Amino acid sequence: MRDTPNSAELLAWYDKNAREMPWRVAPDASMNGERADPYFVWLSEVMLQQTTVAAVREYFIKFTTLWPTVSDLANADDADVMAAWAGLGYYARARNLLKCARVVVDERDGIFPSTRAELEKLPGIGPYTSAAIAAIAFGQSEVVVDGNVERVMARLFAHEVPMPESKPTLRDFAAKLTPKERAGDYAQAVMDLGATLCSPRNPSCEICPWRANCIGYAKGIAAELPKKSPKKPKPIRYGTVFLAQRDDGAWLLEKRPDRGLLGGMMGWPGNNWAEDPNPASPPIDAHWTPLNGEVRHTFTHFHLRLSVQIAQTDATSTPERGVFVDQKSFSANDLPTVMRKAFELVQGRLNQN
Ligand code: ADE
Repeated sequence: MRDTPNSAELLAWYDKNAREMPWRVAPDASMNGERADPYFVWLSEVMLQQTTVAAVREYFIKFTTLWPTVSDLANADDADVMAAWAGLGYYARARNLLKCARVVVDERDGIFPSTRAELEKLPGIGPYTSAAIAAIAFGQSEVVVDGNVERVMARLFAHEVPMPESKPTLRDFAAKLTPKERAGDYAQAVMDLGATLCSPRNPSCEICPWRANCIGYAKGIAAELPKKSPKKPKPIRYGTVFLAQRDDGAWLLEKRPDRGLLGGMMGWPGNNWAEDPNPASPPIDAHWTPLNGEVRHTFTHFHLRLSVQIAQTDATSTPERGVFVDQKSFSANDLPTVMRKAFELVQGRLNQN
Protein backbone atom coordinates (compact mmCIF):
# COMPACT_ATOMS: atom_id res chain seq x y z
CA MET A 1 0.00 0.00 0.00
CA ARG A 2 1.21 3.48 -0.83
CA ASP A 3 1.67 5.70 2.25
CA THR A 4 -0.22 8.97 2.39
CA PRO A 5 2.30 11.71 1.64
CA ASN A 6 3.38 13.76 4.63
CA SER A 7 5.14 17.01 5.23
CA ALA A 8 8.20 15.43 6.90
CA GLU A 9 9.43 13.86 3.66
CA LEU A 10 9.14 17.16 1.85
CA LEU A 11 10.75 19.17 4.65
CA ALA A 12 13.73 16.79 4.65
CA TRP A 13 14.08 17.44 0.92
CA TYR A 14 13.75 21.21 1.46
CA ASP A 15 16.45 21.17 4.15
CA LYS A 16 18.90 20.04 1.48
CA ASN A 17 17.45 21.69 -1.63
CA ALA A 18 15.82 24.99 -0.64
CA ARG A 19 16.42 27.64 -3.26
CA GLU A 20 18.34 30.65 -2.00
CA MET A 21 16.27 33.85 -2.26
CA PRO A 22 17.13 37.30 -0.91
CA TRP A 23 13.97 37.46 1.21
CA ARG A 24 14.30 33.96 2.68
CA VAL A 25 15.74 32.55 5.88
CA ALA A 26 17.61 29.32 5.08
CA PRO A 27 16.12 26.11 6.56
CA ASP A 28 18.84 25.61 9.20
CA ALA A 29 18.37 29.16 10.52
CA SER A 30 14.62 28.69 10.41
CA MET A 31 14.92 25.55 12.52
CA ASN A 32 16.82 27.66 15.06
CA GLY A 33 13.78 29.88 15.31
CA GLU A 34 14.92 32.66 12.97
CA ARG A 35 12.07 34.22 10.97
CA ALA A 36 12.11 36.22 7.77
CA ASP A 37 11.44 39.98 8.01
CA PRO A 38 7.66 40.47 7.49
CA TYR A 39 8.36 43.48 5.25
CA PHE A 40 10.59 41.33 3.02
CA VAL A 41 8.04 38.51 2.93
CA TRP A 42 5.17 40.86 2.10
CA LEU A 43 7.13 42.69 -0.60
CA SER A 44 8.38 39.48 -2.23
CA GLU A 45 4.98 37.79 -2.13
CA VAL A 46 3.27 40.80 -3.75
CA MET A 47 5.96 40.83 -6.43
CA LEU A 48 5.73 37.06 -6.96
CA GLN A 49 2.01 37.15 -7.79
CA GLN A 50 1.90 36.45 -11.54
CA THR A 51 5.68 36.87 -11.82
CA THR A 52 8.56 34.39 -11.74
CA VAL A 53 11.19 34.20 -9.00
CA ALA A 54 13.88 34.94 -11.61
CA ALA A 55 12.19 38.19 -12.65
CA VAL A 56 11.40 39.26 -9.08
CA ARG A 57 14.91 38.88 -7.64
CA GLU A 58 16.40 42.06 -9.12
CA TYR A 59 13.29 44.14 -8.37
CA PHE A 60 13.29 42.94 -4.78
CA ILE A 61 16.94 43.95 -4.38
CA LYS A 62 16.26 47.34 -6.01
CA PHE A 63 13.28 48.01 -3.72
CA THR A 64 14.98 46.97 -0.49
CA THR A 65 18.10 48.97 -1.40
CA LEU A 66 16.03 52.10 -2.10
CA TRP A 67 13.58 51.47 0.77
CA PRO A 68 15.06 49.12 3.40
CA THR A 69 12.05 49.30 5.75
CA VAL A 70 8.31 49.67 5.41
CA SER A 71 8.62 53.22 6.79
CA ASP A 72 11.07 54.15 4.03
CA LEU A 73 8.64 52.81 1.45
CA ALA A 74 5.67 54.61 3.04
CA ASN A 75 7.59 57.89 2.80
CA ALA A 76 8.63 57.40 -0.84
CA ASP A 77 7.24 59.49 -3.69
CA ASP A 78 4.52 57.69 -5.60
CA ALA A 79 6.23 58.45 -8.93
CA ASP A 80 9.53 56.90 -7.74
CA VAL A 81 7.79 53.70 -6.63
CA MET A 82 5.82 53.41 -9.88
CA ALA A 83 9.02 53.96 -11.88
CA ALA A 84 10.88 51.33 -9.84
CA TRP A 85 8.02 48.86 -10.48
CA ALA A 86 8.08 49.50 -14.27
CA GLY A 87 8.47 46.23 -16.17
CA LEU A 88 6.96 43.99 -13.46
CA GLY A 89 3.41 44.45 -14.77
CA TYR A 90 0.05 44.39 -12.97
CA TYR A 91 0.59 47.95 -11.80
CA ALA A 92 -2.34 47.91 -9.34
CA ARG A 93 0.04 45.87 -7.19
CA ALA A 94 2.43 48.84 -6.94
CA ARG A 95 -0.36 51.28 -6.07
CA ASN A 96 -1.66 48.92 -3.38
CA LEU A 97 1.88 48.35 -2.14
CA LEU A 98 2.21 52.03 -1.32
CA LYS A 99 -1.27 52.18 0.22
CA CYS A 100 -0.49 49.16 2.38
CA ALA A 101 2.90 50.49 3.50
CA ARG A 102 1.22 53.76 4.54
CA VAL A 103 -1.51 51.99 6.52
CA VAL A 104 1.07 49.81 8.30
CA VAL A 105 3.11 52.89 9.20
CA ASP A 106 0.26 55.31 10.01
CA GLU A 107 -2.07 52.91 11.80
CA ARG A 108 0.16 50.12 13.11
CA ASP A 109 3.43 51.84 14.05
CA GLY A 110 5.19 50.21 11.11
CA ILE A 111 4.56 46.68 12.41
CA PHE A 112 2.84 44.09 10.22
CA PRO A 113 0.06 42.14 11.95
CA SER A 114 0.80 38.45 12.44
CA THR A 115 -2.59 36.83 11.83
CA ARG A 116 -4.21 36.08 8.55
CA ALA A 117 -7.42 37.89 9.48
CA GLU A 118 -5.61 41.13 10.38
CA LEU A 119 -3.32 40.90 7.35
CA GLU A 120 -6.31 40.59 5.02
CA LYS A 121 -7.65 43.94 6.20
CA LEU A 122 -4.65 45.65 4.58
CA PRO A 123 -4.82 47.02 1.01
CA GLY A 124 -3.77 44.54 -1.67
CA ILE A 125 -3.48 41.57 0.70
CA GLY A 126 -5.80 38.73 -0.30
CA PRO A 127 -6.12 35.10 0.85
CA TYR A 128 -2.89 33.95 -0.80
CA THR A 129 -0.66 36.76 0.45
CA SER A 130 -2.11 36.77 3.98
CA ALA A 131 -1.54 33.02 4.32
CA ALA A 132 2.00 33.28 2.91
CA ILE A 133 2.99 36.12 5.29
CA ALA A 134 1.36 34.48 8.33
CA ALA A 135 3.13 31.18 7.61
CA ILE A 136 6.55 32.41 6.41
CA ALA A 137 7.09 35.48 8.60
CA PHE A 138 5.14 34.38 11.70
CA GLY A 139 5.25 30.57 11.62
CA GLN A 140 1.46 30.19 11.69
CA SER A 141 0.04 26.97 10.34
CA GLU A 142 -1.78 28.54 7.37
CA VAL A 143 -2.52 26.86 4.06
CA VAL A 144 -0.64 28.57 1.23
CA VAL A 145 -1.95 27.74 -2.23
CA ASP A 146 -0.58 29.09 -5.50
CA GLY A 147 -0.38 27.56 -8.97
CA ASN A 148 2.65 25.46 -8.06
CA VAL A 149 0.91 24.03 -5.02
CA GLU A 150 -2.20 23.25 -7.07
CA ARG A 151 -0.13 21.33 -9.61
CA VAL A 152 1.66 19.31 -6.92
CA MET A 153 -1.65 18.44 -5.21
CA ALA A 154 -3.39 17.49 -8.48
CA ARG A 155 -0.55 15.05 -9.22
CA LEU A 156 -0.10 13.65 -5.70
CA PHE A 157 -3.79 12.77 -5.53
CA ALA A 158 -4.28 12.12 -9.27
CA HIS A 159 -7.13 14.60 -9.26
CA GLU A 160 -8.43 14.73 -12.82
CA VAL A 161 -11.12 17.40 -12.51
CA PRO A 162 -9.93 20.32 -14.65
CA MET A 163 -8.86 23.74 -13.35
CA PRO A 164 -10.33 26.04 -12.23
CA GLU A 165 -13.25 23.85 -11.00
CA SER A 166 -10.80 21.70 -9.05
CA LYS A 167 -9.46 24.60 -6.96
CA PRO A 168 -11.49 23.97 -3.76
CA THR A 169 -10.58 20.25 -3.72
CA LEU A 170 -6.90 20.97 -4.31
CA ARG A 171 -7.00 23.45 -1.43
CA ASP A 172 -8.52 20.74 0.82
CA PHE A 173 -5.65 18.38 -0.11
CA ALA A 174 -3.14 21.15 0.65
CA ALA A 175 -4.82 21.85 3.99
CA LYS A 176 -4.62 18.19 5.06
CA LEU A 177 -0.87 18.15 4.41
CA THR A 178 0.00 21.47 6.07
CA PRO A 179 1.92 20.78 9.32
CA LYS A 180 1.51 22.57 12.65
CA GLU A 181 5.27 23.15 12.93
CA ARG A 182 7.49 24.73 10.26
CA ALA A 183 4.46 25.77 8.23
CA GLY A 184 6.43 28.55 6.53
CA ASP A 185 9.23 26.24 5.44
CA TYR A 186 6.67 23.69 4.35
CA ALA A 187 4.77 26.26 2.23
CA GLN A 188 7.98 27.29 0.53
CA ALA A 189 9.01 23.67 0.11
CA VAL A 190 5.85 22.83 -1.86
CA MET A 191 6.34 25.94 -4.00
CA ASP A 192 9.99 25.02 -4.61
CA LEU A 193 9.03 21.46 -5.50
CA GLY A 194 6.46 22.78 -7.97
CA ALA A 195 8.93 25.23 -9.48
CA THR A 196 11.73 22.68 -9.85
CA LEU A 197 11.03 18.91 -9.92
CA CYS A 198 7.23 18.98 -10.23
CA SER A 199 7.41 21.35 -13.20
CA PRO A 200 4.48 21.80 -15.60
CA ARG A 201 6.20 19.86 -18.39
CA ASN A 202 8.60 16.93 -18.07
CA PRO A 203 8.51 16.63 -14.27
CA SER A 204 11.54 14.94 -12.68
CA CYS A 205 9.54 12.24 -10.87
CA GLU A 206 12.53 9.90 -10.52
CA ILE A 207 14.16 12.16 -7.94
CA CYS A 208 11.02 13.50 -6.26
CA PRO A 209 10.82 13.12 -2.46
CA TRP A 210 7.10 12.34 -2.78
CA ARG A 211 7.42 9.82 -5.61
CA ALA A 212 6.52 6.82 -3.44
CA ASN A 213 3.33 8.60 -2.35
CA CYS A 214 2.29 10.11 -5.66
CA ILE A 215 -0.84 8.56 -7.19
CA GLY A 216 -0.35 10.54 -10.40
CA TYR A 217 3.10 9.01 -10.77
CA ALA A 218 1.85 5.50 -9.97
CA LYS A 219 -0.83 5.85 -12.65
CA GLY A 220 1.65 7.32 -15.14
CA ILE A 221 -0.41 10.50 -15.59
CA ALA A 222 1.51 13.01 -13.44
CA ALA A 223 2.75 15.08 -16.40
CA GLU A 224 -0.82 15.48 -17.73
CA LEU A 225 -2.09 17.03 -14.52
CA PRO A 226 -3.64 19.37 -13.64
CA LYS A 227 -6.11 19.22 -16.51
CA LYS A 228 -7.32 22.59 -17.71
CA SER A 229 -10.65 23.71 -19.17
CA PRO A 230 -10.07 25.02 -22.70
CA LYS A 231 -9.13 28.70 -22.68
CA LYS A 232 -11.10 31.33 -24.55
CA PRO A 233 -8.91 32.85 -27.29
CA LYS A 234 -7.71 36.37 -26.49
CA PRO A 235 -9.12 39.17 -28.65
CA ILE A 236 -6.83 41.63 -30.43
CA ARG A 237 -7.09 45.32 -29.61
CA TYR A 238 -5.65 48.24 -31.57
CA GLY A 239 -4.35 51.65 -30.52
CA THR A 240 -1.99 54.47 -31.42
CA VAL A 241 0.74 56.18 -29.39
CA PHE A 242 2.40 59.50 -30.13
CA LEU A 243 6.07 60.05 -29.36
CA ALA A 244 7.01 63.72 -29.51
CA GLN A 245 10.56 64.87 -28.85
CA ARG A 246 11.44 68.50 -28.36
CA ASP A 247 14.59 70.07 -29.89
CA ASP A 248 16.27 69.98 -26.46
CA GLY A 249 15.71 66.22 -26.20
CA ALA A 250 12.69 66.26 -23.82
CA TRP A 251 9.99 63.61 -24.43
CA LEU A 252 6.24 64.19 -24.13
CA LEU A 253 4.72 61.77 -21.59
CA GLU A 254 1.36 61.50 -19.92
CA LYS A 255 0.42 59.95 -16.57
CA ARG A 256 -2.26 57.33 -17.11
CA PRO A 257 -5.41 57.50 -14.95
CA ASP A 258 -5.02 55.68 -11.62
CA ARG A 259 -7.76 53.23 -12.49
CA GLY A 260 -7.50 50.79 -15.35
CA LEU A 261 -4.69 49.09 -17.18
CA LEU A 262 -1.19 50.48 -16.45
CA GLY A 263 -3.00 52.79 -13.99
CA GLY A 264 -0.81 55.49 -12.46
CA MET A 265 2.11 54.77 -14.80
CA MET A 266 3.74 57.25 -17.18
CA GLY A 267 3.23 56.45 -20.87
CA TRP A 268 3.05 57.92 -24.35
CA PRO A 269 -0.12 59.87 -25.06
CA GLY A 270 -2.48 57.93 -27.29
CA ASN A 271 -6.06 56.81 -27.81
CA ASN A 272 -8.20 54.15 -26.18
CA TRP A 273 -7.43 50.59 -27.16
CA ALA A 274 -10.36 49.10 -29.03
CA GLU A 275 -11.27 45.98 -31.00
CA ASP A 276 -11.14 48.01 -34.24
CA PRO A 277 -8.49 50.52 -35.26
CA ASN A 278 -9.92 53.89 -34.22
CA PRO A 279 -9.03 57.55 -34.83
CA ALA A 280 -6.45 59.16 -32.59
CA SER A 281 -5.79 62.83 -32.10
CA PRO A 282 -2.19 63.91 -31.43
CA PRO A 283 -1.38 65.51 -28.07
CA ILE A 284 0.49 68.43 -29.63
CA ASP A 285 0.35 70.32 -32.90
CA ALA A 286 3.28 69.07 -35.02
CA HIS A 287 4.14 67.29 -38.22
CA TRP A 288 3.40 63.66 -37.32
CA THR A 289 4.95 60.71 -39.17
CA PRO A 290 3.47 57.21 -38.80
CA LEU A 291 6.16 54.56 -38.41
CA ASN A 292 6.17 51.35 -40.38
CA GLY A 293 5.67 48.36 -38.15
CA GLU A 294 3.79 48.12 -34.87
CA VAL A 295 4.29 47.27 -31.23
CA ARG A 296 2.84 43.96 -30.08
CA HIS A 297 2.20 43.20 -26.46
CA THR A 298 0.06 40.63 -24.69
CA PHE A 299 -1.93 41.49 -21.58
CA THR A 300 -3.91 39.03 -19.45
CA HIS A 301 -7.13 39.44 -21.43
CA PHE A 302 -6.07 40.62 -24.90
CA HIS A 303 -3.29 41.06 -27.44
CA LEU A 304 -2.46 44.66 -28.24
CA ARG A 305 -1.18 46.10 -31.53
CA LEU A 306 -0.04 49.69 -31.33
CA SER A 307 0.69 52.01 -34.23
CA VAL A 308 3.37 54.54 -33.46
CA GLN A 309 3.67 58.11 -34.71
CA ILE A 310 6.63 60.40 -34.14
CA ALA A 311 7.17 64.14 -34.29
CA GLN A 312 9.87 66.65 -33.56
CA THR A 313 8.68 69.84 -31.86
CA ASP A 314 10.24 73.06 -30.63
CA ALA A 315 9.85 75.04 -27.42
CA THR A 316 7.19 77.29 -28.93
CA SER A 317 4.46 74.64 -29.01
CA THR A 318 2.60 73.64 -25.87
CA PRO A 319 1.02 70.21 -25.55
CA GLU A 320 -2.73 69.79 -25.21
CA ARG A 321 -2.04 66.72 -23.08
CA GLY A 322 0.94 65.45 -21.13
CA VAL A 323 4.19 66.99 -19.92
CA PHE A 324 7.64 67.21 -21.43
CA VAL A 325 10.16 65.23 -19.36
CA ASP A 326 13.69 66.49 -19.93
CA GLN A 327 16.27 64.17 -21.35
CA LYS A 328 18.18 63.90 -18.04
CA SER A 329 15.14 62.66 -16.15
CA PHE A 330 13.81 60.43 -18.90
CA SER A 331 14.51 56.71 -18.66
CA ALA A 332 12.70 54.23 -20.91
CA ASN A 333 13.16 51.64 -18.14
CA ASP A 334 10.76 53.65 -15.94
CA LEU A 335 7.95 52.97 -18.44
CA PRO A 336 5.67 49.94 -18.53
CA THR A 337 6.94 47.32 -20.97
CA VAL A 338 4.49 48.10 -23.80
CA MET A 339 5.51 51.78 -23.70
CA ARG A 340 9.19 50.86 -23.60
CA LYS A 341 8.65 48.72 -26.70
CA ALA A 342 7.21 51.75 -28.54
CA PHE A 343 10.30 53.75 -27.56
CA GLU A 344 12.56 50.96 -28.79
CA LEU A 345 10.72 50.82 -32.12
CA VAL A 346 11.34 54.55 -32.54
CA GLN A 347 15.00 54.24 -31.49
CA GLY A 348 15.51 51.45 -34.01
CA ARG A 349 13.96 53.63 -36.72
CA LEU A 350 16.01 56.69 -35.77
CA ASN A 351 19.21 54.68 -35.75
CA GLN A 352 18.50 53.41 -39.25
CA ASN A 353 18.30 56.95 -40.62
N1 ADE B 1 6.34 31.75 -5.11
C1 ADE B 1 5.65 32.65 -4.40
N2 ADE B 1 6.16 32.79 -3.18
C2 ADE B 1 7.20 31.93 -3.10
C3 ADE B 1 8.11 31.59 -2.09
N3 ADE B 1 8.06 32.19 -0.91
N4 ADE B 1 9.02 30.65 -2.36
C4 ADE B 1 9.05 30.07 -3.58
N5 ADE B 1 8.24 30.35 -4.56
C5 ADE B 1 7.31 31.27 -4.34
